[in-house]
Amino acid sequence: MATLEDSLDIGGVTIPNRLYRAPLLECAGNGPDAVDTLLDDLEPAAESGVGLICQGATIVRGDGGCAAPGMTRVHDPDFVERLSRLTDRIHDHGSRIVVQLEHGGLRSMETWHAEYRREQPDLEQLAVSEPPWQLRALDRLGFLSYDPHVLSTDEVYELAADFGRSAAYAADAGYDGIHLAGANMGIVQQFCSPFYNRRNDEFGGSPEARLEFLAVVHDEIRERAGDVPLITKVPAETPAPSSPIVQRKLSLEDGVELARRLEKIGYDAVVPVQTSVVWDMSIVRGAYPDRAWKNEGLHDAYDAAFGGTARRKLVAAANRIQSLQYDFDPAWNEAFCRRVREQVSIPVLAEGGIRERGQMDRLLGEADTKEPACDMVGMARPFYAEPRLGARLLEDAPDETRVLCESCNNCTVPQVTGAPGMCRTPTVLRKRGDLEREGVYERR
Ligand SMILES: Cc1cc2nc3c(=O)[nH]c(=O)nc-3n(C[C@H](O)[C@H](O)[C@H](O)COP(=O)(O)O)c2cc1C
Ligand code: SF4
Repeated sequence: MATLEDSLDIGGVTIPNRLYRAPLLECAGNGPDAVDTLLDDLEPAAESGVGLICQGATIVRGDGGCAAPGMTRVHDPDFVERLSRLTDRIHDHGSRIVVQLEHGGLRSMETWHAEYRREQPDLEQLAVSEPPWQLRALDRLGFLSYDPHVLSTDEVYELAADFGRSAAYAADAGYDGIHLAGANMGIVQQFCSPFYNRRNDEFGGSPEARLEFLAVVHDEIRERAGDVPLITKVPAETPAPSSPIVQRKLSLEDGVELARRLEKIGYDAVVPVQTSVVWDMSIVRGAYPDRAWKNEGLHDAYDAAFGGTARRKLVAAANRIQSLQYDFDPAWNEAFCRRVREQVSIPVLAEGGIRERGQMDRLLGEADTKEPACDMVGMARPFYAEPRLGARLLEDAPDETRVLCESCNNCTVPQVTGAPGMCRTPTVLRKRGDLEREGVYERR
């Protein structure tokens, strides 16, 4: 059985250990400071010894498709070439880096961000099919704003080719692999999900056909970027909303079957993630972010995003209900990962609520007679709280070593305004300051 310090092969690339930084929005954009912002966000994890850095979602097209403000686009080869400064620096520390490719589809800013929508009145959202009645109802009630363009068959192939082109630019810029945003309600999940996908061409109609988009994306990436390791998140839409509101969704068994087929298609690793069919807190389980909503300095920006004070208060109320529904649950994807790992022989990466060294070893199977639940363990929010977290967790740290992040989600809501991704809870930041002074973030 493996330990956190053991190396792992993914698609022919050696990852020096089994700890990864899960994809997290950096809000670096594409401006002159983009590479420096990414370096500030990602290099500390590599310096602290983390084996694999997953850069947050980047968009494969030049317009539309961003789930949140400030996302980086990777459609332009000249821009992506500049990212070699980032990949070189990550490699200097002995770590590996993959970039996550994404298009938001019906989860794009143009459906929910009022100010952005006003500024870009002609921006359509790419849709796999006409939005389901539940989303159309939210449109009629004024919570969302849909103006969808349903992709023709040719346009689906063209979108898959954009994933391939961006992957090729990334491989040229020195990325060690490509990660697909398959389970965060973006367009990949929309193709896989019976909730969204009602197509009757080769991309819809059966579970196999709903996976065809990922098969074509795979082929495009292989053709344009070669044998670069290919990782994807895999969704199971188990959390919610439940029947009778949503009857068509991916069960846990559907998610396991997706992973099994992805291995056959040629994917090199999978990240099983339980996620809702809509954008909610199921992928960031934790507390209601009281401090983030009460921050008066952000109220105007929230109002611009949500379309006024009344709407902001409604979103906050919905957030409160969700925090009860999706309370923190340690290692909440463990059972899904375990089921997938029984069915595939490619590495399974686990993330979501992993917080302690002893728990990581248990998931990797070291201290247990059970089969491992996964082959690598990742965290996201804890890296906002402690960018150099690797130094504290690796090199045989004691079992009880626990991250500082309290999963309070104060970092999540401000990102709707384009605010940078960072920990926003002063008690946690003070504890980090104390640990910094003790020198625990220096590599042993
Ligand atoms: C602010 C924020 C941004 C995120 N951005 C992405 C992303 O770009 N792509 C993605 O696949 N997941 C994203 N996630 C989900 C994380 O990768 C991770 O699965 C989730 O936060 C659960 O892990 P944690 O409990 O360790 O935070 C994001 C999560 C947060 C909190
Ligand atoms: S604000 Fe800080 S403590 Fe709270 S979830 Fe985000 S990183 Fe963790």
